[in-house]
Amino acid sequence: MSVQNQAAIDLLAMESGPTAIALDATYEDCGESPNILIVDPAELNRRLLKAMLKTASYGIIECTHPAEAFEILERHKIDLVIADVLMPGMSGPDFCRVVKGSRKTQLIPILLVTSLQDSETELAGIDSGADEFLVKPLKPALVRTRIRGLLRHKALTDSLDEAETILFALAQSVEQRDKHTGKHCERLALYGVMLGKALGLSRKDQLALYRGGFLHDIGKVGIPDAILFKRGRLTEDEWQTMRMHTIRGEEICRPMKTLAPVLPIIRSHHERWNGSGYPDGLRGEEIPLLARILQIADIYDALTTARPYKPAYSHRHAVEVMSEEMRRGWRDPELVALFAEITRTEAKNAATLPSGDAGMRQSLDAMRLELVK
Ligand SMILES: [Fe+2]
Repeated sequence: MSVQNQAAIDLLAMESGPTAIALDATYEDCGESPNILIVDPAELNRRLLKAMLKTASYGIIECTHPAEAFEILERHKIDLVIADVLMPGMSGPDFCRVVKGSRKTQLIPILLVTSLQDSETELAGIDSGADEFLVKPLKPALVRTRIRGLLRHKALTDSLDEAETILFALAQSVEQRDKHTGKHCERLALYGVMLGKALGLSRKDQLALYRGGFLHDIGKVGIPDAILFKRGRLTEDEWQTMRMHTIRGEEICRPMKTLAPVLPIIRSHHERWNGSGYPDGLRGEEIPLLARILQIADIYDALTTARPYKPAYSHRHAVEVMSEEMRRGWRDPELVALFAEITRTEAKNAATLPSGDAGMRQSLDAMRLELVK
């Protein structure tokens, strides 16, 4: 930490204003108050801003340089950034572009402030993705109002994130009802992304495959155990109920805007290439590509893991079964061939990972970090 920063923190500690947070503090230290990061090389400006925010219980972190700001954003949960347009090493608009260009920080609102009173600067600020732009001298009441508005919006975004987390927990609880499937969702996420990468799909599509691995069967939450785990043939009524998990799953996830790319996977992962699948009887390329990919991964995992009615098949045996299904017209021939090729080498180890294996956890964590960058 720079001497300058330490001085600023010491100064904050002496002030009786908003909660001051040391840069190496943990988020737990911050309580429930929103955390604001002030990035400004001028100490006077930072003090003025802190004085304006004194009446509210914000956690304030300050720094003088964009490089320090990136470090803080990496280590702390920040709810709002106030940055000056003129900063050392990087302009405010460029700083803004970097923050808004990262999936991890893109939803953090940024308020840019400047003493440059020209429309070009303002346009550059807005163009960089800044959420608000204020020209000095700052009016305390206006600053407080804008900050309250930005924080309200951030709180709403956070609550949507929480809703997504709850959906993932729900999906995992569905999986855990079946003690024989082990880490089925995790393996599906791995295989799905692996195939998506081999096809050169965008990171957005790969992220949808990752999430689809966990969420594709979330609609099974409403299916009774007596049907879900029934040994022997299902009656026609029971089949009707079972098939509904695709539509029900789509309904559960539809309210989450961020899950929109995952909905086709949830709805269409039981369609068949020749149109004999469900729920819509789609055929060929009418079936969304991401759903076809996840379906291949789903079948391969079911074949290569032990179930009460069958042992775990070898990679070779699983590919033979999938090729047979392809000949019957059920699967996308190109995807089956490509998947067989990439799993022959890469997925072999992942397929044999024991349940709860730290290796799989690490692979998934690394994959998720890469996809949500
Ligand atoms: Fe399913």
